[in-house]
Amino acid sequence: MAGRIPQSFINDLLSRVDIVDVIESRMTLKKTGKNYSGLCPFHDEKTPSFTVSPDKQFYHCFGCQANGTALTFIMNFERVEFVEAVEILAGSLGLEVPREQTGRPRPKVDADLYDVLREAERFYRQSLRGADTAINYLKSRGLTGEVARDFGIGYAPPGWQNLSEQLKNVPAAKLLAAGLQIKSEKGRVYDRFRERIMFPIRDSRGRVIGFGGRTLKNEDGPKYLNSPETEVFHKGSELYGLYEARRALRRIDRLLVVEGYMDVVALAQHGVANAVATLGTASGESHFHKLYRYTDEVICCFDGDSAGRQAGWKALENALPTLNEHRQLKLVFLPDGEDPDSLIRARGKAGFDALVAEATPGLEFLFTRLSQGLDLGTVDGRARLAGLIAPYVEKVPEGVLKTLLQQKVAEVTGLGRRAQPNPSQRIRSNNSSKVSRLSERLLTYLVKAPDMWPEVDVQVRETLLEAVADMGLLGAVMGFLDANPEADTEEMLVHWSDNEAGRVILNAAQKNLEIDRQGMRAEFLDGIDRLLDHLRSADRRRILDQLRDSSDVEDLRRYWQLHGLGKDIT
Ligand code: UTP
Ligand code: MN
Repeated sequence: MAGRIPQSFINDLLSRVDIVDVIESRMTLKKTGKNYSGLCPFHDEKTPSFTVSPDKQFYHCFGCQANGTALTFIMNFERVEFVEAVEILAGSLGLEVPREQTGRPRPKVDADLYDVLREAERFYRQSLRGADTAINYLKSRGLTGEVARDFGIGYAPPGWQNLSEQLKNVPAAKLLAAGLQIKSEKGRVYDRFRERIMFPIRDSRGRVIGFGGRTLKNEDGPKYLNSPETEVFHKGSELYGLYEARRALRRIDRLLVVEGYMDVVALAQHGVANAVATLGTASGESHFHKLYRYTDEVICCFDGDSAGRQAGWKALENALPTLNEHRQLKLVFLPDGEDPDSLIRARGKAGFDALVAEATPGLEFLFTRLSQGLDLGTVDGRARLAGLIAPYVEKVPEGVLKTLLQQKVAEVTGLGRRAQPNPSQRIRSNNSSKVSRLSERLLTYLVKAPDMWPEVDVQVRETLLEAVADMGLLGAVMGFLDANPEADTEEMLVHWSDNEAGRVILNAAQKNLEIDRQGMRAEFLDGIDRLLDHLRSADRRRILDQLRDSSDVEDLRRYWQLHGLGKDIT
């Protein structure tokens, strides 16, 4: 991985751009007094409630409460992640984004390869025009020109030397390095893809990094041919369709992982735009790391046969090290002989959605599969289950999810220290969920209006900081704002940009609150009072534990429901 972007660079960047320029180059703004206004790009509206303040270098929508600075605007408008937004902004000023040294310098990739691959994509797309066999094939598979264009689908015509003839400016060595040509043992160089429908594979920035090619002939060669691993193409972590999904969707609630190119494209054709495919490999840990950067819910689709179940098991095993209490994995096993492409064509979007809605939560699959053949009515059976499941629980990173899983194992097997909650614990947990909701609300207010923190009485602030030094994200935010009284929402996003907390903060920043600033201020100060009350109460110790473990108990309860572990497993 490249190193972190130095904070000083980000600060410098933000001080050099003018938010008005950044936004005006992407939408129409009108000067209205001191500020600028326009139609909000983040929700549908007929009269402008989106304003940009050049003084504060901030935008705000009175309709949907969207707000932030130049960087957040780019993230939301261009639908890119923080680092990409920094790169876009830096690029507009002609600046190179520096990276902090990470010890092991990353080998520099040959940037020319991206150009070569883009040229090749263009050639394949042009070749599709007028290629009746290829066009008819796509039509026979139910695809329209529109979806073919969205995915940049092309055609590699027959012939062995098309690329060297058509891409005259590209040195032969680059065509080889890009995986587009092959060198035979005798040293003859020829095109890898011939008479194939071409699916360009893009990275998260939309650059073509490789291709998949489906043969149009039934007899010879493999049905699908993929680019080999190259400097820029790594099958182990790339996902076909991820870029297209991000472009099509403003918010990605969940991502579906399917097996084939055709599945992704056919699903998109029918309005299911959130599907991605691994590239002829199993879904590995790196795939899940990537997927969970974009969404909290991943649903893998497999065939319903035993190979499919095996693949599902493997995927679950690979996903475990990437899971936490916010992220979930589900598995869908399709009816025998069907794939997502055939299914959606037969049953339509509603039919397909219905199947996905019945996905098996991954952790439920874990328990039921390992319990198979065991008699959990006996101590022996339960002990065997505890032994079988331990190595899987071990794979889950330290944290709330792991603790909960250990608890669940203890509960199901009757082994281990943790007992069922007794009624008095339940009452108390009810109370602490109140505290969690309160802390979540306070966090949201602080993220939206960080300048309210210095308004809190200094003694109260000190009491809070002392009491809550380690109380999860809220404590961290309070501490940060105390140390950086001038900080705005943007700076908080930047500060927590590359970890989980950043997602929580971004979520909070984008939350649509139905109150104005005055109301928010009143609620915030009132909330602070109530938090103090709670902290003074006898429950203090346990409340702190609770807050440290999780910023939202309700979330956890919902999490168990989602994972199918809310009910009894046995
Ligand atoms: P499938 O054989 O299930 O094909 O391969 P499919 O997606 O249903 O294709 P259509 O519907 O016949 O066109 C699924 C995936 O496995 C990889 C490809 O990534 C393909 O999309 N694969 C398959 C290969 O890499 N090579 C092959 O020869 C076959
Ligand atoms: Mn198929």
